[in-house]
Amino acid sequence: MAQGKPRVLSGIQPTADSFHLGNLLGALRNWVHLQQEADAYYCIVDLHAITVPQSADTLRERTLVSFAQVVAAGVDPEQACVFVQSQVPEHAQLAWVLMCQTGFGEASRMTQFKDKAAKGGAGQASVGLFTYPILQAADILLYHADRVPVGEDQRQHLELTRDLATRFNQRYGPTFTVPQAYIMAHGAKIADLAEPTAKMSKSSPAGCVFLLDPPKRIEKQLKSAVTDSEGVVRFDPERQPGVSNLVGIIAACTDRTPQDVVSDYDGVLYGQLKKDAVEAVLSVAVPFAERTRELLADPTELERLMAVGAAKARAAAAPTLAKTYEALGFVRG
Ligand code: TRP
Repeated sequence: MAQGKPRVLSGIQPTADSFHLGNLLGALRNWVHLQQEADAYYCIVDLHAITVPQSADTLRERTLVSFAQVVAAGVDPEQACVFVQSQVPEHAQLAWVLMCQTGFGEASRMTQFKDKAAKGGAGQASVGLFTYPILQAADILLYHADRVPVGEDQRQHLELTRDLATRFNQRYGPTFTVPQAYIMAHGAKIADLAEPTAKMSKSSPAGCVFLLDPPKRIEKQLKSAVTDSEGVVRFDPERQPGVSNLVGIIAACTDRTPQDVVSDYDGVLYGQLKKDAVEAVLSVAVPFAERTRELLADPTELERLMAVGAAKARAAAAPTLAKTYEALGFVRG
């Protein structure tokens, strides 16, 4: 562990024009928090993005916007290492090595692949999509990450990463740190506004608050959030998922507990709850969008920050790859 601090690594895909409220309150806030207590590496995973077809201009734009948003969220690129995955060639290099340690059957059991492949139509999924979790393992193992902050949906990929690390170490001698999943359970869980039993996701735009959207659209969406006919504001995600989601959103945006927020609404109607949700969300989204635009308006500085991140990442990744190559018996170049 460098400087006695645990090493943390996480990644986010540059596959949307804007991050959504769930990304910010669930993941990015955690990243910001962890940069102090950990030696943090945060990666914009553009190699993962091309596991499904992308247009070049869109991917380029979204990579820049994603990088800017990570910084706008409060990740300090001088303190944490923020970098773009394709700028660190060791990721693809280690992924190949790890693919050769992975059983075909083992990779075939990954449920996220099965879900994504089923959605795209039989036989349409790329081999890259199939090996996605192995590239993710490479991301993690290159940096000797102790902890990997991710959502619940990434648990199986983390298990695979741990299995691959353990297996490689057994076959070739100690090479990789076996990482722990750090499931962000205490991060705010933000649900879809239109379908509050599902997690907020960019693939259901109707119930998704995109942070870089015009405030008017954000307001409209929150105002049309699904509630219920109980007429009482409680925090009970099982019985009142829509109302509880709005309470949770207000709580997360204003740094309060849901219970504390609920106490404001004794005998108050849902209309007021929604108005307050609009105000709370805009108080976070508007400065976030402004900061993102400022960063994007200075491409030279943005490129400089990316270069700093890539250099720092390579300095950590290259020795791990060299050690791996040595362990495998590759002749030194
Ligand atoms: N698969 C992750 C997700 O969809 C993104 C990711 C790629 C990642 N590489 C990673 C997360 C490494 C943590 C560590 O959320």
